[in-house]
Amino acid sequence: MKTTDKFSPFTVNGKTVKNRFIRSATNSHLDNTDGIISDAEIEMYDALGHGDVGTIITGHMSVAPDPAYRADIAQPSIGSDEFIPGIRRVADKIHEYGSLAIAQISMAGPKGITPFDFNELSTEEMEQIRDWFINAAIRVQKAGFDGVQIHIAHWYMLQAVVNRDLNHRTDKYGGQDENLIRMPKEIIEGIRKECGPDFLIYIKMNAHNTAEGVDDYDLLAYYVKTLTESGVDLVEISGSDFTRLTRTAECYYIDAVKYLRERFPEITLSLVGGIYSEEAIDRVLETTDFVSMARTLLTQPDFILKLKNGEALKSRCIHCNKCFEIFATKYERCVFGPVNPKLEATFG
Ligand SMILES: Cc1cc2nc3c(=O)[nH]c(=O)nc-3n(C[C@H](O)[C@H](O)[C@H](O)COP(=O)(O)O)c2cc1C
Repeated sequence: MKTTDKFSPFTVNGKTVKNRFIRSATNSHLDNTDGIISDAEIEMYDALGHGDVGTIITGHMSVAPDPAYRADIAQPSIGSDEFIPGIRRVADKIHEYGSLAIAQISMAGPKGITPFDFNELSTEEMEQIRDWFINAAIRVQKAGFDGVQIHIAHWYMLQAVVNRDLNHRTDKYGGQDENLIRMPKEIIEGIRKECGPDFLIYIKMNAHNTAEGVDDYDLLAYYVKTLTESGVDLVEISGSDFTRLTRTAECYYIDAVKYLRERFPEITLSLVGGIYSEEAIDRVLETTDFVSMARTLLTQPDFILKLKNGEALKSRCIHCNKCFEIFATKYERCVFGPVNPKLEATFG
């Protein structure tokens, strides 16, 4: 059985990262309502960088030029050039700690402030959204990030597009599996062409891409293979039901990554969901190259340092999911209290 030192470096597409930990994308709800990065957001990245997180993936940023299509009113935007200086502050902050800076780019679609059904869009409108993703990646690169992650998970637009039971289109973006994956494929090919061979392209995908969700690992494998051949450097596997699982569940989607690992030993993989102890981290790394965490690092941005120093074996997170709610004071995102006392002073 493979044993991987979680604190050992790894090289992805020519870029070496200091350890195997990824902060999975986490929308902070800390930003300004005009879509611009706030000082409080920068403080949050400072805490994560200080906490020795090797790869930091930002919360999802909206690719839409129109703020009405953001996921919520405090979601950062990367839909036009005016947002580049704000997100550059994030990349610079992450790089201060020698960590990799990856911006997650997303289209809220059915889950946005102005929800819409992608099945009702024309082919030209779908192509326009594809181009928004590509233009967003170009801006992310200009802002100094090492790469992007395309959000194809968690009820947002691209996840619905690749879902066999949610996609009812009859044009080139619907029908056969090769059509369902066409939009992410075109986005990735476009980013690779515009941003060059060295720019990192990660994807986050659900383990299941049907309503049934039980026997579709072959579909997942087909998607992963197609997108990897189009230029993806790292595949992070998640799922759409993580908020509904019991508080004691662990390593939620590990069977999916085991399935992928058997078929594609060469693909760089990470797993997110229910990983909150050293034992779980080591178990996941028997299969994957990286281990991704969200709530663990939301409540304890210094969890990795604590592990390293032998001060903790397990996160204090109890998976109550209150962090999805907006608290009375916005800097207070966890039932254990403010995770970063500085946020109170800087939020504005
Ligand atoms: C407050 C909050 C915000 C989140 N925002 C995002 C996001 O912007 N993009 C994303 O892909 N996932 C987002 N997630 C999901 C996490 O990245 C992760 O997939 C999920 O929480 C399961 O991992 P965990 O058990 O380590 O928390 C969010 C999770 C939380 C708790």
